[in-house]
Amino acid sequence: MSDDIGILVYIIMKNDDGGMSMKYITIALAKGRLADLSIEIFESIGLNCSEMKEKSRKLIFTDEEKKVKFILVKASDVPTYVEYGAADIGIVGKDTLLEEGRNLYEMVNLKFGACKMVVAGPQELKDELDNLNNKRVATKYPHIARDYFQIKKGQTIEIIKLNGSVELAPLVGLSEVIVDIVESGKTLHENGLIVFEEICDISARLVVNRVSMKMEKERIMEIVKKVKEKI
Ligand code: PRP
Repeated sequence: MSDDIGILVYIIMKNDDGGMSMKYITIALAKGRLADLSIEIFESIGLNCSEMKEKSRKLIFTDEEKKVKFILVKASDVPTYVEYGAADIGIVGKDTLLEEGRNLYEMVNLKFGACKMVVAGPQELKDELDNLNNKRVATKYPHIARDYFQIKKGQTIEIIKLNGSVELAPLVGLSEVIVDIVESGKTLHENGLIVFEEICDISARLVVNRVSMKMEKERIMEIVKKVKEKI
């Protein structure tokens, strides 16, 4: 949702049998705005995240007492780590989930990181949007944009995939419109663009690996329950 780097958090928890066998419960977090808020939630449910708050280039952080490990990954990779079981749980924006289309359980709407996925462009195109044939749509979210225009609206579009500063595209003639997330609206406003259509609401979600949900149901549901209580 924001920075492209992310955080993967491994949580290792002792079994009830006194720790004879130890299972890893892994949580992937998207770095940036989401990471800071996610760390707050994990601290509030009793995990020691202090090491994660220190500035460093480490990728793994450990809460030895609770047997918790935190690992940093790229934000858009969080669903991949969770789907493949390298992480049992992930905290990631709904935008990334929709774009990645991974096979996961979406368990909790964490409510933070709230923003909207929109179609935006220059004021002068506002009333012409549906009449523009083969319009070029610049976006970091090609799947979301294609689903919206082609499946929902039945329009043929050309997707121009960008990796950031998407608002620039209509200003320099790279595209007619953009599909992007809007939080405060400041970026659009300062670049002379307006929202044409809202595609969907976005916020952080807690997701769970499908196999982990069967194998470690009790411990995962305990984390889910505690997190839900903190929302
Ligand atoms: C996101 C998004 C918009 C901006 C919206 O970009 O893609 O550009 O934030 O926020 P606002 O409505 O509060 O202005 P991000 O900060 O992730 O940077 P990027 O363009 O480099 O991807």
